Amino acid sequence: MSLFGMSTPPAGFDPLAHKFPPMMSSAAGTLGIDFGTSNSAMAWVGDQGAARLIALEGDAMAMPTAVFYNGEDNSTHFGRDALKHYLEGTEGRLMRSLKSLLGSPLLMETTQIGHQQISFQDIICTFLATLRERATQSLGTAPRRVVMGRPVHFVDDDPERDAQAEASLRQAVQSVGFDEVSFQLEPIAAALDYEQRLTKESTVLVVDLGGGTSDFTVVRLGPDLMHNADRNQDVLATTGVHIGGTDYDRQLNLAQVMPLLGYKHLGPEQREVPSRVFFDLATWHLIHWQYQPKAIAHAKTLRSNYRDLRLHERLMQVLTERHGHLIAHEVEQAKIGCSVNNAQADMDLAVVERDLQATLGVADMQAHLHDLLARTVACARECVQRAGLTDASLDAIYLTGGSSALRTFQQALQAEFTGVKLVEGDLFGGVALGLAYSR
Ligand SMILES: Nc1ncnc2c1ncn2[C@@H]1O[C@H](COP(=O)(O)OP(=O)(O)OP(=O)(O)O)[C@@H](O)[C@H]1O
Ligand SMILES: [Mg+2]
Repeated sequence: MSLFGMSTPPAGFDPLAHKFPPMMSSAAGTLGIDFGTSNSAMAWVGDQGAARLIALEGDAMAMPTAVFYNGEDNSTHFGRDALKHYLEGTEGRLMRSLKSLLGSPLLMETTQIGHQQISFQDIICTFLATLRERATQSLGTAPRRVVMGRPVHFVDDDPERDAQAEASLRQAVQSVGFDEVSFQLEPIAAALDYEQRLTKESTVLVVDLGGGTSDFTVVRLGPDLMHNADRNQDVLATTGVHIGGTDYDRQLNLAQVMPLLGYKHLGPEQREVPSRVFFDLATWHLIHWQYQPKAIAHAKTLRSNYRDLRLHERLMQVLTERHGHLIAHEVEQAKIGCSVNNAQADMDLAVVERDLQATLGVADMQAHLHDLLARTVACARECVQRAGLTDASLDAIYLTGGSSALRTFQQALQAEFTGVKLVEGDLFGGVALGLAYSR
């Protein structure tokens, strides 16, 4: 990793290949799919006219990228419905942060679902097939051409694994029946959506802070530019770093909750309890591995490392009753609540132990997220530097993606770019709309 953990573009990475592709016409129209780490959204555009978001769950235009395999009746659930079943305590398996597995060897590993062994790649396909089905239902016809979003880097500083991640996603998208698949960088898609609202030419730093990655682009946008077939010269720079809201969740979980289960707890010989289990329990896409019999057997052996055995009992309760996602969900909600209200938020951990609670205050957020946010802001700075611009030549910083709403992030960004106007955009639908405009 380079300074600040920021990544440089991988060798052989052709940024132009992901810039604005030439316009192609098709009577069939284009479907933009924003397959996000935390949430997914889709938008459709015909040959002409404005793109529109597709309702995915009732009226909701975005849905959590979540799959729940119900162990009681063997049914499969998606999005909010998946989370609802899990949070209500239905017996089964929850899968979240599936995108984080792209580019990792874990993608092809299998997991036991009911009587079957299923790979994580298969689970991604199941989710994408549902997106396709819902788009088909909404449009009355099966879309053929899709533009998939991709982060600037799926994997930092490893071009081979990054290319593998895109290839795996392409394969998954094709396997569910889309025959024409192209990719667009997520921050460029966000820029194309923002451009629809502009009345004059502007140079903008577009910031897309999601669940898994933070992506930046400096781009020239405007009503007179948007109809040009070739927009490559308008993209002045792109950068990205593999840090997002799920990393904030992990950091806050480790700081505020995991110590209640023994993280950093000193044992009889003044040695800390081995920390691996706490890191994995606090990482959305690794949680379910801790429920495997082997992992539980290992956790049992940690008992001798504890001085306060009550903490070990809590750890065992979380593993055997599978409360890891529930805790991660509580932490995420506290993060959002603390940011929105600028006040302390409480986390209810009664499932772990009667009356057990944890808190998250404004100062905790600032302290524990400081490093991650500093690296993220440094990546934004690098983008502007690569574009060869000074702050004075930026007309605005456009914010999109759920994590861009985080108060501490906005404060850190504004402190770095003093005097540049922050414009808050669509948190969850902008990338999908921009992908459709990338046709
Ligand atoms: N109001 C809020 N304040 C802070 N964070 C928020 C807020 N609302 C949502 N989030 C966070 O935003 C993240 C999800 O954002 P988003 O849906 O844009 O990500 P994504 O597109 O799924 O991820 P990626 O683009 O990285 O693949 C989650 O980590 C969530 O906790
Ligand atoms: Mg996103």
